[in-house]
Amino acid sequence: MPRRVTASSISPSGLPRFHLRWENASSSSSSSSSGGSPRWKKWPMRPNDSILVFGGTGGVGQLVTRKLLARGKEYVVRVAARDVDRARELLTTPIAFPLGGSSSSSSPTSSSTAPDVIRLDLVGDAKSTDDELRSAMEGVSAIVVSLGTTAFPTRRWYGGNTPVGIDSEAVGRIANIAMGVKTLRRIVLLTSVGVERTDQMPFVFLNLFGVLDAKRSGEDAVRSASRNSGSSYAIIRPGRLVGGPYTNLDLAKLFQIEGGTSNGVTMERGDALLGDCKRDAAAEAVVRCLEDDGCMDVEFSIVSNEERALTDEEWSEAFVGMRCISG
Ligand SMILES: NC(=O)c1ccc[n+]([C@@H]2O[C@H](COP(=O)([O-])OP(=O)(O)OC[C@H]3O[C@@H](n4cnc5c(N)ncnc54)[C@H](OP(=O)(O)O)[C@@H]3O)[C@@H](O)[C@H]2O)c1
Repeated sequence: MPRRVTASSISPSGLPRFHLRWENASSSSSSSSSGGSPRWKKWPMRPNDSILVFGGTGGVGQLVTRKLLARGKEYVVRVAARDVDRARELLTTPIAFPLGGSSSSSSPTSSSTAPDVIRLDLVGDAKSTDDELRSAMEGVSAIVVSLGTTAFPTRRWYGGNTPVGIDSEAVGRIANIAMGVKTLRRIVLLTSVGVERTDQMPFVFLNLFGVLDAKRSGEDAVRSASRNSGSSYAIIRPGRLVGGPYTNLDLAKLFQIEGGTSNGVTMERGDALLGDCKRDAAAEAVVRCLEDDGCMDVEFSIVSNEERALTDEEWSEAFVGMRCISG
């Protein structure tokens, strides 16, 4: 049965607790969690861990980067960007609106440190080599993939930046190389609602140029890399993205659709929702997937609602219901 979660749908006793506590995990670090991999391979982030963000200059990726830097956990945040100078400037300039969320330990608008920025281009003639990708991933504990291009032909497709080039081939490449990163424990991929409903409206239309098929192929690669390496994965499928930063030429940008003042979310396992998702809410979900000890091998769709943001405990309980058990 699909499990739908909002703040008001969670009762403290409604779901079984699943907490891989740090001390428990370390006392059994040689035992297996799945497929013979040691349990530490699925541990959540801890202070000083390194996190690599692909797409850290994008709408959701910028917010993920800022939130991670503002967590007060001394994360080493590395952003892979095509234009290093632009990325540095973008990510060190304060943003014009307050970020939501429910548990940031310091203000997410004021990053205490800047991210490391490294140059990586994932498609086209200037494409980075596998060695460059491998070197960017060296020593990281987690990888966030929030890459994207437009669903329909635009100037952003120049140089091979099509949905197939980005959402399928580039994500596939990242996943394949990530499989060999021994320190990697978590990989979080942003895709979209509709990947499993391409025969239904409005997704038939959205998929006219294959963006949902390409995203599904990227999902397959991440799932398989995670299973082969023993690390944990999260596939987050947001609804139409609204709210700043506006990085896409779409109606949400044209009409500056903010998506409400609260940061409430509705989440459902698999691909079942339809609606708008604030970029801020999607970014918060990414951070929670990295930090929550129960967020292991989850796949869920997410949209915004007008309820309050989830508490720490509610996020944990929600993730239990989002786990993908099938093989
Ligand atoms: N728009 C929607 O309504 C919607 C709905 C559901 C899901 N999504 C998906 O949600 C995710 C996040 O969306 P978003 O709006 O935050 O994305 P976005 O603003 O379009 O950001 C895309 C990111 O990908 C990077 N990128 C593109 N081509 C690259 C390349 N060749 N090499 C390296 N980096 C490259 C961009 O870098 P540059 O800054 O250099 O361009 C940017 O950082 C995407 O996968 C998107 O498709 C979007």
